[in-house]
Amino acid sequence: MEDPKEYVKINEMTRRDAKEVLEKIPIKWKKVDARVLDIGCGDGGVTSNILKKYMPENFKKLVGCDKNIECVKYAQEHYGNEKVHFMALDVEEKIPDELKETFDHIFSSYAFNWIRKQEIAFTNVYDMLTEGGNCQLLFVGHSNAFQVFDDLSRTPKWRSHLENVHTKFTSPYFHSQDPAGEIQTMMKRIGFKDIDVRATRETYAYEDGVEMFKSVMKCLNPFQSLEENWEEFMSDALALDPDLGIVKYVLIVACGSK
Ligand SMILES: C[S@@+](CC[C@H](N)C(=O)[O-])C[C@H]1O[C@@H](n2cnc3c(N)ncnc32)[C@H](O)[C@@H]1O
Repeated sequence: MEDPKEYVKINEMTRRDAKEVLEKIPIKWKKVDARVLDIGCGDGGVTSNILKKYMPENFKKLVGCDKNIECVKYAQEHYGNEKVHFMALDVEEKIPDELKETFDHIFSSYAFNWIRKQEIAFTNVYDMLTEGGNCQLLFVGHSNAFQVFDDLSRTPKWRSHLENVHTKFTSPYFHSQDPAGEIQTMMKRIGFKDIDVRATRETYAYEDGVEMFKSVMKCLNPFQSLEENWEEFMSDALALDPDLGIVKYVLIVACGSK
């Protein structure tokens, strides 16, 4: 996702899921002076309009981070204030020592499915948490949208455009039969306690059906060479799966404490 201005028009599904997960799996908040990090904050809307509403009012600071500097600038401009701010951070890379043990809670919505180096990212989450702190990370495993990109990547017509589909687009858990089990094992290895990982089958029907699906995919599409042939590509995608206006996916929610 490169353009936060476009992203705000199409993220109805992430907003719904972030809200539902925060309702269904209440976070055990630190009552006073909580320091909270939202990883992969994008435009900052989920951070400020959703996550913040569930936090105790007397929190100390809320930080949104993203590896995309355009997102960080947009979020800071729209939502930054004395207690809420946004910074550039790639959670798959080595994190600065100053960030270690500085957050009581770490949240993330729809970012971890973009992350290849899962063990590094989860270890960074663990390292940034204070003793007794906790995390709640929600992201996608399998989905019919990933499936159609994967199917088209094996056709002679689209193969060259989608060569890196498994490293640039589909979730690292796209093929996994037991994503919750895999993540639980990894979190245990890292040292997390109170681990609770759920993988549930969900659906989301876009209000504007396939037209919205096309807009969402255009915004998220990381393959530049597809842009020139976008309508033709989408038409082939819809020929393979005409129901793409309804997203069918596995939603993973990984919680744990330090
Ligand atoms: C689909 S958006 C989600 C935005 C927002 N959290 C929401 O729920 O609407 C995914 C975001 O994760 C960010 N992201 C992907 N990989 C990341 C990484 N390794 N470190 C930090 N942010 C990352 C992307 O730049 C993008 O802004």
